[in-house]
Amino acid sequence: MRKVLIAVLLVSAASMPAWAQDDYKSLPPGPGRDVMVRVCAQCHSPEIAAQQKLDAAGWKDLVNQMANNGAQATDAEFDTISKYLAASFPAN
Ligand code: HEC
Repeated sequence: MRKVLIAVLLVSAASMPAWAQDDYKSLPPGPGRDVMVRVCAQCHSPEIAAQQKLDAAGWKDLVNQMANNGAQATDAEFDTISKYLAASFPAN
């Protein structure tokens, strides 16, 4: 019985959309979220981004700073991440 339950849980987890598969509740769904989580979780929780509120230029600078820290992504991916962050955590 328990094995059946575990199998059901595994199957339902696999059928969820990618953004729903992690526990990063402070990161709203949106285009680029999956890339952001993949790249920004390389060193620390990607959720620390949710503590910042920046305008588009500010997020670009912060993402550049993380690239200098050693974040691994293409320029296009960094661009996607900056846009996701600017849309999700805009300056007040
Ligand atoms: C190669 C490792 C690495 C990756 C990948 C990385 N970071 Fe960081 N991050 C750091 C380090 C080291 C610090 C602390 C020192 C600093 O602020 O530069 C930090 C700090 C931060 C802070 C806090 C800055 C502050 O001033 O309080 C934020 C926000 C942040 N990272 C966001 C991101 C985002 C968004 C991404 C994805 C683009 C990312 N990080 C990817 C290494 C990384």
